[in-house]
Amino acid sequence: MSNTQPDVVASEHTPLKPRDVSFSWDRTPLHWVPGDPFTTHTINVLHLLLPAGERWFVHVYKQVLPLITDERLREDVMGFIGQEAMHSQAHDDVLPHLKALGLDPTPYTAQVDWFFEKLLGDRTLPPGRARKWWLLERVAIIAAIEHYTAFLGDWVLNADALDRRGADPTMLDLLRWHGAEEVEHRSVAFDLFLHVDGSYRRRVRTWATAFTALVFLWQRGTRFFMENDPTLDGGKASFTALRHRGRIGMLPSTGAMVRSIPRYLSPAYHPSQEASTAQAVAYLASSPAAKGSH
Ligand SMILES: [Fe+2]
Ligand SMILES: [Fe+2]
Repeated sequence: MSNTQPDVVASEHTPLKPRDVSFSWDRTPLHWVPGDPFTTHTINVLHLLLPAGERWFVHVYKQVLPLITDERLREDVMGFIGQEAMHSQAHDDVLPHLKALGLDPTPYTAQVDWFFEKLLGDRTLPPGRARKWWLLERVAIIAAIEHYTAFLGDWVLNADALDRRGADPTMLDLLRWHGAEEVEHRSVAFDLFLHVDGSYRRRVRTWATAFTALVFLWQRGTRFFMENDPTLDGGKASFTALRHRGRIGMLPSTGAMVRSIPRYLSPAYHPSQEASTAQAVAYLASSPAAKGSH
């Protein structure tokens, strides 16, 4: 039903399986990027957004399963659901540790829960066109968000600056295990969107929604952490700090973020054109947490 012509790189497809990981946070300090609370907290926003966000992915996809008529896509979606459920749990498990270190995330996560469960929830729509429209809209929003989770996954797998800075190895493994699975399953949400709808107008519209929401929630989350960090006096988040960390490789660069926009909006876009499945699979084979799951 798609009205675009994506250029698919078929060799990037791989069967998906969730890996049953666990992490021990006892030795992870509050500023797990040493001496850099801004980078620490900008990345920490993932722990605020992903538990509710990825639970919401799973919730929506379980409703879409009856619409899937392609067996391989159904298997991909089942693998995706298994991986996202595990990601959501792993990030959720970081929150009690942050609280124990004096940074209670509950006021912010309550807002994020409302955002995903109420604003993007099922609503009380009657069966029929309106309910189907809202389901397709959410499938397209997830495809847009997954463009960014794959972007971030690819970034963190290659973010050597974090290693050089001495970032906490357990947190890096969480981020890279998750990032690698995001790269591994980066085509599923887009393929599902193409399968059930694929409208280019919907792709553009929902990209604008997802991008705006991500920027809004991310900058609020970073500000929340900086202002509530018990070790900082008047901690601030700023665009200048973000640009600087991007330039030195501690965070994705603003240029890379801007360049990712027209790629998603190109009619020829397909997620298989981005990042490397081979690199993701290689990381997962060596990840301490993922290895423990075998
Ligand atoms: Fe994920
Ligand atoms: Fe994902």
